[in-house]
Amino acid sequence: MAKNIYIGEILKNEEVQKDCFLMKIKIASSFETPLPGQFVMIRIAGLNDPFLSRPISIYSFSRKNNFCLIELLYRAVGKGTQIMAGLIEGSQVEINGPLGNGFEIQSVKKNVVFIAGGIGIAPLSLLIENLCRRFPSSLMTLYFGAQRSSAVIGLDKLQKMCRLVNICTDDGSLGEKNLVTRVFQKDIKKFLPEDTSIYACGPKEMLVALGKIFSKNEFDCQVSLEERMACGTGACMGCAAAIKDKKGALVYQRVCADGPVFYLRDIIWE
Ligand SMILES: Cc1cc2nc3c(=O)[nH]c(=O)nc-3n(C[C@H](O)[C@H](O)[C@H](O)COP(=O)(O)OP(=O)(O)OC[C@H]3O[C@@H](n4cnc5c(N)ncnc54)[C@H](O)[C@@H]3O)c2cc1C
Ligand code: FES
Repeated sequence: MAKNIYIGEILKNEEVQKDCFLMKIKIASSFETPLPGQFVMIRIAGLNDPFLSRPISIYSFSRKNNFCLIELLYRAVGKGTQIMAGLIEGSQVEINGPLGNGFEIQSVKKNVVFIAGGIGIAPLSLLIENLCRRFPSSLMTLYFGAQRSSAVIGLDKLQKMCRLVNICTDDGSLGEKNLVTRVFQKDIKKFLPEDTSIYACGPKEMLVALGKIFSKNEFDCQVSLEERMACGTGACMGCAAAIKDKKGALVYQRVCADGPVFYLRDIIWE
């Protein structure tokens, strides 16, 4: 078996909200500690369909005495994730990972802002947990937008970790009835580019809107991109995204291997 491929055992696969599942997987202790923002390619062990491997972010990770625990938070949207949703305790899954670059956290600034849209909270949650441990004095603010209150997942945990949590929903069933980008834009003057790091994950429309907000200023904003993936390991170019290189020229980079995290200012939306 290739270096990063593991067989994991499902300990729990629970529907935490409608169509949204939390899968807890026990895996060998040789699994590398993931960086926040990294993901796994997951498929059902022994299933004879090579195309049913799906990228899912690592939502939480812990190391025990002789094994590791990974949690994945995922929305059942199509064939692959619906099969995942039907898996019961004790089922085996094939896990390839951790994959991708993860968020850059070495040069994190005093103020840290997270902007999450829907299930985009999954990679940001691991990031928030990690930054809270490493930089306890940082001032962390979360903007979390979702379609409705039931899609606001993990709020208790997030409220314990962040100084301020701003919730908004499309239908107004929790927090402000507004788009998360608009709520953040109203607050933008509270943050200075030189002492604020911004991390975002959510639907493409949310990231495009953020790109417009940041086009007029110098904020460092890293975003995790979602792209359909085939191999997940950089071999097929199936997940190419248009990115500006250091000289401003357009290059195609692989979301799975060069990303999924990129600086928002470098992304060319096609
Ligand atoms: C790096 C990365 C991390 C991700 N992390 C998570 C996560 O933590 N939780 C989660 O719920 N989802 C996550 N996704 C999205 C997830 O991979 C897709 O929802 C999943 O692959 C859909 O597979 P499917 O067979 O169920 O759906 P399909 O039947 O293949 O497609 C159903 C719908 O989902 C869209 N879709 C399919 N693949 C993707 C994709 N890779 N990205 C975005 N939309 C897609 C299709 O266009 C279609 O509208 C992540 C994607 C990437 C690239
Ligand atoms: S999915 Fe094959 S290169 Fe990214």
